[in-house]
Amino acid sequence: MQENNRYLEVAITAAKEAGRIQMLHYGQAHSVEYKGEFNPVTEVDRFCDEAIQRTILDAFPGHEIMTEESPFEKKGSPWRWIIDPLDGTINYYRGFPFFSVSIGLEKDGEVILGVVYIPVLDELFVAQKGEGAFFNGKRISVSQTDQLKMSFLATGFPYDVQERPEYYLRYFHQFIKQTFAIRRPGSAAIDLCYVAAGRFDGFWELKLHPWDVAAGILLITEAGGKATGFKGQPLSIYAEETLASNGLIHEQMLQVIQEIEEEMGR
Ligand code: IPD
Ligand code: CA
Ligand code: CA
Repeated sequence: MQENNRYLEVAITAAKEAGRIQMLHYGQAHSVEYKGEFNPVTEVDRFCDEAIQRTILDAFPGHEIMTEESPFEKKGSPWRWIIDPLDGTINYYRGFPFFSVSIGLEKDGEVILGVVYIPVLDELFVAQKGEGAFFNGKRISVSQTDQLKMSFLATGFPYDVQERPEYYLRYFHQFIKQTFAIRRPGSAAIDLCYVAAGRFDGFWELKLHPWDVAAGILLITEAGGKATGFKGQPLSIYAEETLASNGLIHEQMLQVIQEIEEEMGR
């Protein structure tokens, strides 16, 4: 087996195992703890974290693991797995069936592989650098919508939204005036995959983490879309701003953001 296929095989095995664990406990009572005032975590986030780490480290013991639920241990390896064991935790424990597992793999600082699995729908999204993006084995591409006013967007809010709602709502307010419709589903990894699959035309969010976006951004670029920061600069998965689209409406989205930021004096 080619080495690349081995990474992919391990990523898919880990994502499906985490999805299996999520479904096993779905709809039951959960013990919810808080990492900050508003950042919830359940025992299932941790079960999934352990299962994914075990699968990856059994196969690649020297690789670095960056996951939402465990402290980061720097090993100096060029390989870094970037994992959200359960993206959409609030949805999950409230029984709202929109949650996922997200696994990305960086080599020398570049994401080369991304896998997102949505267990309720049995939807598997896979991308490898230079090899396209796939949904349940079929190649996908972004939508053809080229007018912002006809576009269907997704977004989300970070856990500090209650501290500065007016700031985040400015973006929502401007976009809702200039687009066809907006959704806030509650799993950034799914939102990004749905842009890759042409279900959404674009996405923006502030203060996401590398584990929310590493896989999904590769899905979008491999599906022919575009991802940048809010000033149009190349996207860093470690930065605070995520703007992703089918490419055709990207400039129009940047224009909206620029107007908002000028208004705020940024
Ligand atoms: C959250 C989800 C949500 C986004 C939040 C994230 P979590 O991740 O991706 O869609 O709006 O910013 O923190 O905490 O459920 O893994
Ligand atoms: Ca997340
Ligand atoms: Ca999570």
